[in-house]
Amino acid sequence: MIISNYMKNEHRECDTLFASAEEAIALGEWDVAEERFLAFSNEALTHFKKEEEELFPAFEAQTGMTEGPTQVMRYEHEQVRGLLGNMAESLEAKDKDACLSLAESMMILLQQHNMKEEQMLYAMCDRVLPAELKEKTLETMKNMSL
Ligand SMILES: [Fe+2]
Ligand SMILES: [Fe+2]
Repeated sequence: MIISNYMKNEHRECDTLFASAEEAIALGEWDVAEERFLAFSNEALTHFKKEEEELFPAFEAQTGMTEGPTQVMRYEHEQVRGLLGNMAESLEAKDKDACLSLAESMMILLQQHNMKEEQMLYAMCDRVLPAELKEKTLETMKNMSL
């Protein structure tokens, strides 16, 4: 379960960063909020990059499933990227109501997305990828940055 463990842990880290950004937004501490939002955004986008450039292609090559779950996940990443842009704008404008409402949408979207990956995609990766390929994919992902 080396893929699942590593990727689930990153989901938890993103959740923690997001919760702390949301807390600062709710308190109207805009400078702190912006800093924390950036930290979350970097973590989430780096995680997406690991999936899109390493994990998903490995899964697709191994299973031949190029139009299946990975396409749905890529589409949801685009939705999250859109929300990140909208949230950055509302932070810039110090619009607390807009920002909190976008944060709510973001949390729901990410929760559902992460659950699907954890329960289905990562579990499948751990099952179908040969051990050596899993090790290699994991090592590459660990060294990736935005
Ligand atoms: Fe994802
Ligand atoms: Fe993920």
